[in-house]
Amino acid sequence: MGTGTGTTPKVEAKMPFSEEEAHRLDAADPGQRDLFLIPPAEGGRYAEAAYLVGNSLGLQPRATRAELLEELDTWARLAIEGHFEGARPWTPYVGLLTEPAARLVGALPAETVVMNTLTVNLHLLMVSFYRPSGARNRIVIEDTAFPSDSYAVQSQARFHGLDPDQVVVRLRARPGEENLRTADVLDYLDREGENVALVLLGGVNYLTGELMDIPAITRAGRAAGAVVGWDLAHAAGNVPLRLHDWDVDFAAWCTYKYLNAGPGAIGAAFVHERHLGDHGLPRFEGWWGNEPATRFEMTPQIRPPATADAWQVSNPPILAMGPVRTSLELFDKIGMTALRERSVRLTAYAERVLDEVVATRPMTLLTPRDPQRRGAQLSLRIGQGSAAELARRLRFEHGVLTDSREPDVIRAAPVPLYSTYHDCWRLADALAHTVDG
Ligand SMILES: Cc1ncc(COP(=O)(O)O)c(C=O)c1O
Repeated sequence: MGTGTGTTPKVEAKMPFSEEEAHRLDAADPGQRDLFLIPPAEGGRYAEAAYLVGNSLGLQPRATRAELLEELDTWARLAIEGHFEGARPWTPYVGLLTEPAARLVGALPAETVVMNTLTVNLHLLMVSFYRPSGARNRIVIEDTAFPSDSYAVQSQARFHGLDPDQVVVRLRARPGEENLRTADVLDYLDREGENVALVLLGGVNYLTGELMDIPAITRAGRAAGAVVGWDLAHAAGNVPLRLHDWDVDFAAWCTYKYLNAGPGAIGAAFVHERHLGDHGLPRFEGWWGNEPATRFEMTPQIRPPATADAWQVSNPPILAMGPVRTSLELFDKIGMTALRERSVRLTAYAERVLDEVVATRPMTLLTPRDPQRRGAQLSLRIGQGSAAELARRLRFEHGVLTDSREPDVIRAAPVPLYSTYHDCWRLADALAHTVDG
């Protein structure tokens, strides 16, 4: 890694991509940056950070503060009566989120519920959908699964008295390749499917940014007699999804990444229509899993609705739900189709300018080149030095925010809602000045 300079020299003379071009592209293809609060830069020559970490934590929408203040005000004025009165009574509040959340992932409202956090939801869903029986006891994940998913499936195996080393199968990319080939997943399911109880993969891989072929893998897994669930943490709000039509059995996602609902924000879950109602599926239940109409009868036996709401356990944290509501309203207004179109253009530009830098440096792009096989995120493997140190220098010397995954991956996500072509240019420029060619 080279030595960065405090004042970054202009690079137009040296690089075949220009700052002017980035500004031109921004003028022709603007996002909705004005709706968000952009953090200040902590280094470099621009006032605002080039924020490329919306795949980790999305930026704060300007509307969120007012939304939160409104709920605080209702609490102050109405206290307990806020459950039933005010602009958005709290008892049925979660219902306000159901339809927009369903639209976002291509689900029916009955199939969608906003609740808990992601790993908790994966557990609640696996209680219902991981039903090992005899030799059909395997759980298939990807070797680069997010650690929380690894821990969750291993603990589910133990919960059933099984040895995770025996039943958790980690599918790997081929030697020398970075991404898991769909064909290899299909081949495994074809060969070993009769032993598979559950396939649980990330829709977009957190490390490489690879967008899996969700419909093809779901079809193959179900044809093999397995249940197919998806962790959509990096897919929801990033790529268009059609969970209902794709026949996905279940899915869960968070709302703090591309959905911009704030740190640790509430997650969501999808259960396909065919599993709703009384099919004898086991569930870990609580009072909020009751039919809303009879919830307050306080009977000792639960009467769950024939919707994904039956998976709810506790009464929802309203102050955490306001930001989800604000965010989903934005997605409804702009639409995933328009966002995806800008995302494809923006990410292609980021790829082009990064390629110019990477070509002469010891770095490689891990993310698939095919826009159909990726969302907004591009991941770079750095050939030398520490990824964390590089991310730190990009931040403090250039005001460019990326994140690092140990030991050697830098992730950058041009988020179509608020990232600019100029942000992408700044990343390439900063890398060019920080990493020796
Ligand atoms: C792919 C993936 N799965 C699971 C998690 C864990 O989410 P949570 O902390 O909300 O349970 C994350 C968090 O970043 C993630 O990226």
